[in-house]
This record gives sequence, C-alpha cells and structure tokens, in this order.
Amino acid sequence: MLKLSSSAPLKGEILIPGDKSISHRAVILGSIAKGDTRVHGFLDSADCRSTIDCFRRLGISTESVDGDPHELIVHGRGMHGLCPALPYVEDSHVTLYTGNSGTTTRLMAGILAPQSFASQIGGDASVNSRPMKRVMEPLRMMGAQIESVQGNNCAPLLINGSSLHGMSYATPVASAQVKSAILLAGLYASDAVTVTEPSKSRDHSERMLTAFGADVRASGNTVVIRPADELYASEIHVPGDISSAAFFIAAALITPGSEVLIRNVGTNKTRDGILRVAKAMGADIEYVSSADAAEPYADLLVRYSHLKGTVIEKDLIPALIDELPVIAVMGAAAEGTTIIRDAAELRVKESDRIAAMAEGLAAMGADVTTGPDSMTIRGGAPLHGSLIRTFSDHRIAMSFAVASLIASGDTVLDDERCVDISYPAFFGDLAALQR
Ligand code: S3P
Repeated sequence: MLKLSSSAPLKGEILIPGDKSISHRAVILGSIAKGDTRVHGFLDSADCRSTIDCFRRLGISTESVDGDPHELIVHGRGMHGLCPALPYVEDSHVTLYTGNSGTTTRLMAGILAPQSFASQIGGDASVNSRPMKRVMEPLRMMGAQIESVQGNNCAPLLINGSSLHGMSYATPVASAQVKSAILLAGLYASDAVTVTEPSKSRDHSERMLTAFGADVRASGNTVVIRPADELYASEIHVPGDISSAAFFIAAALITPGSEVLIRNVGTNKTRDGILRVAKAMGADIEYVSSADAAEPYADLLVRYSHLKGTVIEKDLIPALIDELPVIAVMGAAAEGTTIIRDAAELRVKESDRIAAMAEGLAAMGADVTTGPDSMTIRGGAPLHGSLIRTFSDHRIAMSFAVASLIASGDTVLDDERCVDISYPAFFGDLAALQR
C-alpha cells in the first residue's frame, strides 16, 4: 500500500531508464550471437532480469561492467550454443520461469522451437493467463512442436525442439511480440519467413537483428527474414523507454505550473504515438535536442498545458499501446471528451487495462464508459483520492500515481512494488520533481 497526495508543480529534470523492449532483445540476440555483446543503458528491472535468468538456465552468462547493472555484457554462444535448461527448483511446472514478462515468454517460444532439446516455459499467474495461441499457431505452421501444458492455449508451454521451414503469415493482431517470435524462429528455418501485420507494431527486433548481421527486410507492414548461419556480437545503445517517460510527460502536462526536462526518451516512430496524441491535445512539448541513432532519442521539455479531448484509434494504437492507461488519465484532466477505440489488446495485457483504468478513474470521480475495445472519458470532472486496485500491473500503478497529483485527498495504491517490473526507481524519481 502506498499513500499519495496532490502535488505542487513538478520542476527539474529526469533521466529516463532504458527501454524494456530493447533491453529484452539485447539479451536474447546477444545470447544467440557469437562473441560478447556490450549493452549500454540496459534496463535493470524485474522483467529484464527474467530474460537474463532464462538464458542463464540455457547456459549463457552475463556480467555487469564495474558493478553497474545498466552496463551489461552478454557472453553469446552462437546460434546453436544453448543447452537444455535444468529443472526449475522453486516451481515444478517449468524449466524456464518468465515471471510477469509476456515479452520474454513469447519471444523465447520463437527461440526454443528450433532447438535440439525440449523446454517448458511459463510465468506468474498474469503471464499464464495471457493468450499464447497467437504465437503457438504461426510457430506450428513452421513445423514447431509446441503445446499448452494445461490445454488452454496459455503458458506453461511445452516446446519440443524441431526443425522449422519457411512460411508466409498474416498476423490477425498487430503485435511486436508475435512478429518477433516468428522472426527469431525464422533465423533457424530452412527458408525465408514473411510476416505481415494489420498495422505496424514496434520494429525494435528488425533493427537489432540487422545490427547482429541477420538478413531482415521490411516494407510497409511486411517483414521478411532469411535463415542465418550465425549472428555476430554487437554493441547496443538502449535509449530511455518512452513508455516510462509517458508517466512524466502526462504528470507535467496535467499538474499546474509544471516544467520538466525529460532526458533520454526513445523516439522510434513505431513507439511515439503518445507524443502525437499529446500534440493533438494541445500539449506544450519542446524537443530540446534529438539524436538519430539505430534507435533515436531526444530530450523533451514538457510544460503544464490546458489539454483538450481527442480521438485515438486505428493504426495509431500499436504506437502507444502501453501508454493508453496514462493517456486515459490525461483524458480525465482534459477539457472535452477523449475516445480510445480499436484497443481490444488492452484487455489482454498484464491486467485487463480497460477494466482497471475504468474502475480506478471512476473511483476518483471521473466520467468513464467502456466497450469491448474502447474507453470514453468525459474530462474535466474534479478528481478525488480513492483506494485504487492496481491488479499488480506496473502501468496501472504508475498511471494512478499520476492521477493522484491532481486529486484532492489521498490516493492509496494497493500494490506499489509492481512498478519494479519496468521502473524500480519510479516513486523516487517522481518525488525528486516535487521538491
Ligand atoms: C512488446 C510489445 C507489446 C507491448 C509490450 C512489449 C515488445 O506487446 O505491449 O509491453 O517488447 O515486443 P504486444 O506485442 O502484445 O502488442
């Protein structure tokens, strides 16, 4: 339980910790590449540690440079260097435990399917209730032997390594996790693999695979990967996570008098939807500096703004999928109505984020209605503190910490430690801007 209350203007600057998606991928590709991969700006959080733990059980070692957990070396063993994992001691169901990380679970399925050994992989109650058919189906089309242990299309998964062949596949949902699982398996296939998505999801895998020497070509919403003999170690610079920056962008925009310099924000075009939405809502966000790298990033100066409602839908959804909870908070603080639609994916994240946001915002006095894939927030109602159920979902907890800044009375989060999943220093960083 954590008690929060309304805030004075937020002032100062904040350095955003590393991107979670990119950090996972650096460990995964570093592990199956030949040689030592150096990762700068690695996100040291529970989810990324789950990926490291899985690879450790598969025979990969990693080390922090000079004891700094954000500077990581992955000692890769090549594409065929993984060893079968030993039984997991604390949880008898799985040999590879992925904690709360859907990204680890789904991407690992793509890596494990073509190995010469069997694996069992699963995570906590949240991960084990999330849909896995979306990766099982395309991997099976490539020849993978992959079963849901409980027969419910969820993890734990039993994967018997087998040889894979090429295919052309259209994914029913725009999901970088599904696309990435297929591309990773495609490295080991006998022929080219083509994936087409209904809308373009984040392209970190494509960018990083190229850096490791894979033959990946993207055109529109289609990506083609050709089988690789070997990948080669690389040096990866991880920018700050825009999904973490989002909480401070929203906090500065809605808290009167605020002015915050948010440094090291990843601005990859497949992730920057929140910046486009904020602009449409009338936000005052200035690019103070920006750098064009393999993964671009910028420093953003964000000032309190009088926000207006907007509509968020269609192809924009994958570019801000993880930011929708805090965008709903921005909608509650805005003048007019904010409509989020085409967002059914929010129902199958770490929690049902449509239900979780609607429940908490309504408890705080906001006017919210929901549909199967939508939320409508009629902004402007004054917010008051309440007891908030986070459903142990890190992004729900951080979204309501932002809402508490403009609420009268105390807001109490039922579980604040869930922020460790993606942003262990979140509450300290927020407090530093309130001094
Ligand atoms: C992620 C992809 C997204 C996102 C998740 C991280 C990734 O999930 O919500 O937090 O790293 O590939 P989906 O692929 O299910 O949309």
